[in-house]
Amino acid sequence: MKTISVIGSGYVGVTTAAIAANAGFRVHLIDISEDRITVLKSGKSFFYEEGINPLIKLAVDSGNLLPSTSYEPGIAESDIVFSCVGTPDNPDGSSNLEYVFSAGKTAAPLLKDGAIYVQKSTVPVGTGAEVATLLPDHVAYVSNPEFLKEGTAVSNTLYFDRIVVGGKDATAVEAVMQLYKTIEKNRASIAQKAGLNTPEKAGEYIATNLESAELIKVTSNAFLALKISFANSIAKLADESGADVVDVMNAVGADKRIGSAFFNAGRGYGGGCFPKDVSGLIASASDHGVDMPIMVAATDVNDSMPGYIANKAQKYLGGILHDKKVCVLGLAFKAGTSDARRSPGVNLANILDKAGANVQAYDPHANKEAKEELRASIVLHETAEEACQECEAVFIATEWPEFKDINFKALKQNMQGDLLFDGINLLAPSDIKHVGLHYMAVGRENL
Ligand code: UGA
Repeated sequence: MKTISVIGSGYVGVTTAAIAANAGFRVHLIDISEDRITVLKSGKSFFYEEGINPLIKLAVDSGNLLPSTSYEPGIAESDIVFSCVGTPDNPDGSSNLEYVFSAGKTAAPLLKDGAIYVQKSTVPVGTGAEVATLLPDHVAYVSNPEFLKEGTAVSNTLYFDRIVVGGKDATAVEAVMQLYKTIEKNRASIAQKAGLNTPEKAGEYIATNLESAELIKVTSNAFLALKISFANSIAKLADESGADVVDVMNAVGADKRIGSAFFNAGRGYGGGCFPKDVSGLIASASDHGVDMPIMVAATDVNDSMPGYIANKAQKYLGGILHDKKVCVLGLAFKAGTSDARRSPGVNLANILDKAGANVQAYDPHANKEAKEELRASIVLHETAEEACQECEAVFIATEWPEFKDINFKALKQNMQGDLLFDGINLLAPSDIKHVGLHYMAVGRENL
């Protein structure tokens, strides 16, 4: 049985480690945070992610998953070491690579002969060549970027579109591919253990050089962010012209050359990846003397969206937000996660609060994580119904399926006003209008 180590217990590290352990590898999962390791040792995750808890529990119980705060003995025993540490952004938007380098430096003296050091963290192109210089000559360095989405991390890892591995050492690249092929062979049973019912699909294995692998990752995220900002730009035009952005983008996306994914207009993108990966790409391009005005524009459009929603609502509410009781439903940066980092819903709530509104808020899974990002005067609630009581306006900012099941008739009766702002195009306008609510959204139903 091969032994591997995973450094960093964020979404990527925990998912990789739990899946590899269930595919038969012996996995050391290393993190400097005592709190995280204690929770993982108890057989569960410290974040909400579909399917992850049963996999952690089974792997910890079987002894295949070994969470630890120490690099020893894990690194020295490992044939493959995955670095999955965080790469937050610096205040100037560039990537903060402190953890990437410190993980490499700490692991370097412990790595065994012939070990492979795999970078899964999202890093600017050129970083790998620098990290490789920290490692002993008997260790191969490869880049293996991660494409999983939070909320569907387990099924994305098992049923991937592509596995990308880049590096100079072809044998090392092949060994990492083999690890994923072992996971692929076992994926139906792993998915079953996770309680997931993901349909089979064929994914690609792509071997390339180090720099290309690094750039593939950031380019993928940047392009998806670009699609969202493009849809939001068209949505603003739809607002002024009477078009319906949902119909427009669905029809545009039906062209197979374009594709309809990531065309949902609304409050814009957030989370721990897109905002920092876009700013990181702009900064790293600039380091290479290349301008990226297209990504600067995508960022500007995105940053404008929560304020755009607040302004639109303000007009409907008679031009002022001051003292108006309003509610934001959805504080996670997207559905399926408790993550509230760079969340558009949190941003919107803060904008409304700053404008003097009396802001109530609720999220089915992210209240706790959102609390520290929210302005102190915003009141958190335990249910959507309670949060919306006596409000003049309700904003939906996350596409949680349960928001579709709200009894809007009862909600309207308990509100003081009638504005329902669908900030993520979750609802069918007709379902809302027939209960007497005034439906507003970005790019539809505006004339
Ligand atoms: C993103 C990528 O989709 C993953 O492939 C990548 O591996 C990951 O970043 C990463 O770099 O680790 P994630 O941040 O989990 O995944 O979330 P997405 O599902 O991509 O959503 C990002 C944001 O865009 C969310 O706020 C979402 O609500 C928003 N979004 C998405 C829209 O506003 N409109 C859309 O049409 C789609």
